[in-house]
Amino acid sequence: MKLNLDSTITLNNGIEMPLLGLGVWKSDNQTAAQSVKWALANGYRAIDTAKQYGNEAGVGEGLKQGLAENGLKREDVFLTTKVFNGDQGYESTLKAFEGQLERLQTSYVDLLLIHWPVNGKYNETWKAMEKLYHEGKVRSIGVSNFNLDRLTDLMEHASVKPVLNQMEFNPVEQEKDIKDYCDKHHIWLEAWSPLGHGDALNDPAIQKLADKYNKSTAQIILRWELQREVITIPKSTHEEYIKQNADVYDFELSDEDVALINSLDIDKRSLWYGAFSWNGNPAGIVDAVDEWNK
Ligand code: A2P
Repeated sequence: MKLNLDSTITLNNGIEMPLLGLGVWKSDNQTAAQSVKWALANGYRAIDTAKQYGNEAGVGEGLKQGLAENGLKREDVFLTTKVFNGDQGYESTLKAFEGQLERLQTSYVDLLLIHWPVNGKYNETWKAMEKLYHEGKVRSIGVSNFNLDRLTDLMEHASVKPVLNQMEFNPVEQEKDIKDYCDKHHIWLEAWSPLGHGDALNDPAIQKLADKYNKSTAQIILRWELQREVITIPKSTHEEYIKQNADVYDFELSDEDVALINSLDIDKRSLWYGAFSWNGNPAGIVDAVDEWNK
C-alpha cells in the first residue's frame, strides 16, 4: 500500500480526511500551540483537540501561527474538535460551539465529534450537530467512545450518518466488534491513544518487529494502524517524536506481521466507558474541562 503524510481517506459524506494527524490530549495551551506548530512544519495536515482538553485556545493560536509560518491556508488543515459532556443537549451544544470556534480562531471545523455518549442526551446533541453540518459550520460530524449499543441507537435516530467513531485503539485494544460494525456501515474507526500507553511500545513482539524493519516500536504501531485503515492521531509534545511518528512511509509491514500485531489484542482499555453516563462515571476524568495551566 503506497501511503504518505498527505494520504487521505474519503469519509462517507465525500470529505477527504488525512489518515494521520496530531493529538493534543493532556497538553496545556502553550504546549499544544507548540506541538501544533511543530506538526505543521513537519508536514502534518490534521489536528485533533476537544473542549474537554482545555487547550482549544492553544490549538487555535498554534494553528494561526503555524499556517502563517508555513505558507498554508486554513483549508490545508483538517481540524477536529469535540462536544464537551457538560454542553450536551440541543441548545447548549449550539451555544457552546460558538465559543469553540472563537477559541480555535476559525469560522468552521472540519469534524465535530460527540466526545462521550452522555445517556439521554446524545441524540439531541446530534440534532444540533446536524444543524451545524447543514449550515456549513462543520464539514462533517461523528462520534467518540460509542459502544455498539449506543452507535446503533444513534444510527436509528440520525438523519446524517456519523463519518467516524473515535475509540481507544492500539495493539492491546483493537475494538473488533466496533471495527466490524463500522466497516459494514462505511464509518471509519479513528484511534485515540494509538500508541497504547506504553504497553504496546514496550511489547517484546513489537520490539522484534522494530529491529526487523529498523524502526521504533511507535513507528511499527502507527504503520500497523495505517495498514489496518484506522485513522490515527498520535500525541506528542516533543518535536523528535512528532517527526518520528510521521516517518512511517518508507516501509510496509508484511501481511504476516500485520497478523502478528492483530494477535496481540487483549481488550485492554485504559478508560471504562461501557456504561458511561454523565456525572457519576467511575473513570472520573471526563467530568470537567481539563485545566493544565493552574
Ligand atoms: P510525549 O507527549 O511526552 O512526547 P498515545 O497517543 O497512545 O496516548 O501516546 C501518547 C504518549 O506517547 C505520550 O506520552 C507521548 O509522549 C508518547 N509518545 C509519542 N510519540 C512517541 C514515540 N515516537 N516514542 C515514544 N513515546 C512516544
